[in-house]
Amino acid sequence: MQSSVYRKVERDYSVKRQKAQSDARHFKKNVYDENPKLAQIEDKINKISLKSIKSRIFSDDFTRQIEQENLTLQLNKLNKEYEEQLARIGLSKRDFEPKYECTKCNDTGYIGNKMCSCFNQELINESFKQSNMFKIKDENFETFDFGYYSSTNDKEKYGIEKSPLENIDGIRRLAYNFSHNLDDPQQKNLLFTGSTGLGKTFLANCVAAEVLKSGKSVIYQTAPILLDKMVDYKFKFNKTEAEREEYDKIFDVDLLIIDDLGTEAMNGAKFSELFNILNTRLLKNKKILISTNLTPQEIKREYEERIFSRFVGDFMICRFVGEDIRILKKKLVR
Ligand SMILES: Nc1ncnc2c1ncn2[C@@H]1O[C@H](COP(=O)(O)OP(=O)(O)OP(=O)(O)O)[C@@H](O)[C@H]1O
Ligand SMILES: [Mg+2]
Ligand SMILES: [Zn+2]
Repeated sequence: MQSSVYRKVERDYSVKRQKAQSDARHFKKNVYDENPKLAQIEDKINKISLKSIKSRIFSDDFTRQIEQENLTLQLNKLNKEYEEQLARIGLSKRDFEPKYECTKCNDTGYIGNKMCSCFNQELINESFKQSNMFKIKDENFETFDFGYYSSTNDKEKYGIEKSPLENIDGIRRLAYNFSHNLDDPQQKNLLFTGSTGLGKTFLANCVAAEVLKSGKSVIYQTAPILLDKMVDYKFKFNKTEAEREEYDKIFDVDLLIIDDLGTEAMNGAKFSELFNILNTRLLKNKKILISTNLTPQEIKREYEERIFSRFVGDFMICRFVGEDIRILKKKLVR
């Protein structure tokens, strides 16, 4: 779990808690303003409570006993009076308590030292937001549809022996295992290659959803935006703490997904940043998933040797084949 996610949720909870408490105070004050009698009784109760404490500390045994009995009697009477006053306006003491969203943990996020389920859910929601993925609610392993992939073997058309269906079945399995093996140093990174509309981004989303579900962190970004941002950061003079954190995350997040590699206009600075990402993350055994329309041959031609050699050595190349699903979907609608 990304520490920025944790901090954000903790902050939100603190705000939520304080809001509930201040709402409760305001409500009580309004009720008291309209019913000054309540304030007077409460004032008396407070004074007697204080006396009771003093007597417990300072009085000798004999006096204490008498005083305590007397004070308790008075307190009971006042409490009863207070409750009667409240009942007259249709309220009870409970109405003055803060209204927390979660009654299990009173919005502290913890029950004892165990994390409350509401807090855990919030951590997951927040990491979805911070991962930059908005589609993973619809695109995940549960909604994955094999129906778009043909079961026909046609080497001439698809360029492989297997049918697109058999092919995607294998890739899906690899991707699923990948999402559960992020920490395994033996696990290679994934490179999704294939022409447009074959489901590369969809499957990358499935992996992201699965990883986030397991409580690990993911950042999804397209190559053009990611590399632009990184180069901007490098050349920026005054870096804010938030910017620094965002930059560091690229290197620290459990899974980095770079979509649409090959669509960016490359230059020397971007090559450096891409190499930096690959190299640093590979050294730290932090996994990467890259998706591209480029074939490995095209990658070799368009990127530097030092970048290409990392793709070959450290990535499992998953070649997507089949029909453009965007077009298939349009045909189905008609
Ligand atoms: N397995 C699947 N089940 C259901 N819908 C899918 C599946 N794979 C892809 N789709 C849908 O098909 C469309 C194209 O898929 P996607 O965007 O993943 O293609 P892509 O390979 O990333 O294309 P591009 O190279 O243009 O980025 C999307 O609308 C996506 O939701
Ligand atoms: Mg895509
Ligand atoms: Zn809770």
